[in-house]
Amino acid sequence: QARLVEESKRSAAYQAVKDHLVASYTRIGIGSGSTVVYVVEAIAALGPGVTSNMKFYPTGAQSEELIEAAGLTLQFINKLPAGQLLDVAFDGADEVDDDLNLIKGGGACLWQEKIVATSAKRFVCVADFRKLSPRLGTNWKKGIPIEVLPMAAPRVLDELKQMGSHNPRIRPGLPGKAGAIVTDNGLWIIDAPFMPLHLLKDSSESGIQAGNGDNGVWAVDALADRLIKIPGVAEIGLFYGKNGLQVESGGQKPVAAYF
Ligand code: A5P
Repeated sequence: QARLVEESKRSAAYQAVKDHLVASYTRIGIGSGSTVVYVVEAIAALGPGVTSNMKFYPTGAQSEELIEAAGLTLQFINKLPAGQLLDVAFDGADEVDDDLNLIKGGGACLWQEKIVATSAKRFVCVADFRKLSPRLGTNWKKGIPIEVLPMAAPRVLDELKQMGSHNPRIRPGLPGKAGAIVTDNGLWIIDAPFMPLHLLKDSSESGIQAGNGDNGVWAVDALADRLIKIPGVAEIGLFYGKNGLQVESGGQKPVAAYF
């Protein structure tokens, strides 16, 4: 299984780069996680003839290192001139639903990832076959990653429980390190499991509840709207609601989701 997963990540990454990295592009966002390693590998394999005019915008410390180690040109999103966008951003995901909404943040990089993703004309999500599920929360049981101000964490946990999250908890540090995991932004992560979320399209289907949490079931958009309003929450790992979604699969069923 492990070999199959790596092969799936790799083939999805090479396919996504082939389909969505245009030689004339100059600004490219690079996400975080183990799948993005293959994205950077695929980009670097194109050689300096293609990449030398391109600048690569990281989503945290890991992706910064990846870009530099591959000999690509690093640039930061705060240097993006006003009114300009990245041509494309590539990133992984923890789970992808049938509407191509995503859970992200398994690697604690969700805040910078969301800034880079939403600063791009096109976002390309690269994910292996395990990540696709009918509804968010079906396969990814660890919960929705939520980046919080440490002093607000107890209050946020209380609010999440009231909203129907089962056993939300502060993500612990790496093995051997005491305390909570600290993000690249100096904040903490709370993982909040919810019942599998209604798809966005469900709300318009007759006979299906709006998913406003009444019976513990939320729609993706309703939950996201509510979570982001909790005082102390900096950003949430739900990426959703973009138009023009497509899905591409092949080989060992790699998935590339675009919006
Ligand atoms: C990082 O915080 C995440 O959003 C990653 O993009 C996500 O966890 C996917 O990581 P893998 O590619 O390692 O599965």
